[in-house]
Amino acid sequence: MKTISLFLIGLLLLTGASAAVSAEKKEQTDSRIKELISKMTLEEKLGQMSQFDPGQLGGPENAKQAIKDGKVGSILNLVGASAVNDLQKVAVEESRLGIPLIIARDVIHGYQTIMPIPLGLAASWNAEVAEDAMAVAAAEAASEGIHWTFAPMIDVSRDPRWGRIAESCGEDTYLTSVMAKAMVKGFQGDDLSNPKTIAACAKHFVGYGAAEGGRDYNTTLIPEVQLRNDYLPPFKAAADAGVATFMSAFNDLNGVPTSGNEFTLKQILRQEWGYNGMVVSDWASIAEMIPHGYAANKKEAAERALTAGVDMEMASDCYVGNVQALLDEGKIDMATIDRYVTNILRLKFELGLFERPYTDEALAEKTILTEKHKEIAQQAASESFVLLQNKNEILPLSNEISSVAVIGPLADSPHDQMGTWVFDGKKENSVTPLTALTEKLGDAKVNFAKGLKISRTKSTEGFAEAVEAAEKSDVVLLFLGEESILSGEAHSLANLNLQGRQTELLEAVKATGRPVVLVIMAGRQLTIERELKLADAVLYTWHPGTMGGPAIADMLFGETVPSGKLPVTFPKTVGQIPIYYNHKNTGRPADYEQWTDINKIPAEATQHSLGNTSHYLDAGFEPLLPFGFGLSYSSFAYSNLELSSNTMGAEGAIEVSVDLKNTGKYEAAEVVQLYIRDRFGSVTRPVKQLKGYKKITLKPGETQKVSIVLKAKDLEFFNGKDYVVEAGDFDVWMGTNSKEGLHAEFSIN
Ligand code: BGC
Repeated sequence: MKTISLFLIGLLLLTGASAAVSAEKKEQTDSRIKELISKMTLEEKLGQMSQFDPGQLGGPENAKQAIKDGKVGSILNLVGASAVNDLQKVAVEESRLGIPLIIARDVIHGYQTIMPIPLGLAASWNAEVAEDAMAVAAAEAASEGIHWTFAPMIDVSRDPRWGRIAESCGEDTYLTSVMAKAMVKGFQGDDLSNPKTIAACAKHFVGYGAAEGGRDYNTTLIPEVQLRNDYLPPFKAAADAGVATFMSAFNDLNGVPTSGNEFTLKQILRQEWGYNGMVVSDWASIAEMIPHGYAANKKEAAERALTAGVDMEMASDCYVGNVQALLDEGKIDMATIDRYVTNILRLKFELGLFERPYTDEALAEKTILTEKHKEIAQQAASESFVLLQNKNEILPLSNEISSVAVIGPLADSPHDQMGTWVFDGKKENSVTPLTALTEKLGDAKVNFAKGLKISRTKSTEGFAEAVEAAEKSDVVLLFLGEESILSGEAHSLANLNLQGRQTELLEAVKATGRPVVLVIMAGRQLTIERELKLADAVLYTWHPGTMGGPAIADMLFGETVPSGKLPVTFPKTVGQIPIYYNHKNTGRPADYEQWTDINKIPAEATQHSLGNTSHYLDAGFEPLLPFGFGLSYSSFAYSNLELSSNTMGAEGAIEVSVDLKNTGKYEAAEVVQLYIRDRFGSVTRPVKQLKGYKKITLKPGETQKVSIVLKAKDLEFFNGKDYVVEAGDFDVWMGTNSKEGLHAEFSIN
């Protein structure tokens, strides 16, 4: 007891002391910033507020003069410690005030050790996996002179046509918020001045994922209730996690482009959330307010962005050329400019750039692509895979198998398995499934045929060889999907079927009578209803990154067991989009009894609306696969759903628990998911909402009680006027996906 109290007193003293040290440090930094600002000319202030790609400055050599003149405070897309040091030297040693540059880069899911795409990381439902992956990305990027990444992208996305869904954490607000926190922590660690960490950026603020029709850069119309309940919470989570920067977006939100949007940037971010980090515009998005039709020229665009609160302009020059005139006309004031410069300088101080402006040029070699980093990448890949089907328990395969056919355009495509937004990863470092399988089984057992050159190939000339490989083998491992370039920025699609002749290749190998294990690599959920019917097993691996091959090979042969769950709903057909699990009920909710199947409508039937419900005649109302879905090689039984109480007050909490039993043959992990429904509200509420989950590993036969605390605060929502926790009745489910689960009820009084 005595030891404990002494320990506690010690801890309190230490915490108190470190709080005092950090308050003192903050004060010192504030006064250094003030002093610097007092010495700065307007041109130097605007320099700090401008970020350019070296190409825009005529290349790194030409950039030096601008840096020397204090006209550039930040550079993006410059890599390599020596190249960065070279420019940094000019900023620190030759510019009048010696303010260091901040170097930025899109390090989205890895620097050179490429992790699964963010949608894949979200499919792991494992925050630690996401955090570790981003910590690796940060350490590698930092070793090459990068101080700041434009990630994580936490735009809730319900439309797989949108190419950037690959970069997102999927359709759910809660899961995205969990991942947002984890990724920010991974990039930033506990201390930005640590040479292994970099500043993160919560992007794109806000609503960008709701682009009309999934067409990138398109208009978004999001009512405030939905904005606050669905799109903003991940950003709030990132702000609470201490994310160093925010990025405004390209989209026009309810008529006001987000880079000039006072409601989101000023009222919500700064005033309501008290965010005091730095805000950067998206690439030229300030100038793009002109084509949006929101500003007549660059001067007006600068005024809009400055009034809304964008501290740093990326890749356009509206600020530089126009602020003097705006000051002269009284449209903005110097105090505002100084506040923005303060936000930028504060980040430079927090990163330790004034004390440690240069990057150790020997660091990269010791840091990049280490065995440890590759291990983390392989573990992340493995946790991100989702088993969609496993007929007759064909998986896992036995090592005793005498031969396998490895077929398909993605079996040996080192570039494509890295996925979108990879600027620095090199395909030479990717280990493909073909390489990993050959290593595992030996050359003699592997019959390889591409079948199709790339995913879009229209010619079937490779089919004969593929069929021959299948016929020679006990089982077909077929690698289909999409190339990395088919997802990502500006790569939206109107059709989500497998491209080219891939489905025909599946049919051709299936016709040999060999069992077919289909492995899909893709940057989004595809419409694969037909392929699910044809294949015996389907493993969805997203774009799995550098170590995708070994992660897949190990899983196919049972050294690891699938544990990923879908972070998105899989539609049957594109026409169902948007389709997501947490939709509203409508006044006429669909069910099977009331569903009018197109094939059952008699000829010349007369129109009537009685008993009709909200559905498609030809596609029903259910998706192909629900959010949260994912199989295992093992099986799990849920029983004894218990609530610590059936009522709670508006400030209260209850514990919801369930007994989870591993009823199968393999040690395996299951993601236990907790959903609620608020039956009635002052505005209508979704039919289900994820409010918690736990990923639990159990041995065969083992049972564990899994408990999740549900606070009344978790049930809060925005009703158009206020954030409220409303009294009333709720449903709660705990189960294996958003469709199946044990059910109970509780109320808030
Ligand atoms: C993207 C951002 C990215 C920026 C810088 C833009 O096109 O929308 O997400 O961070 O470019 O590369």
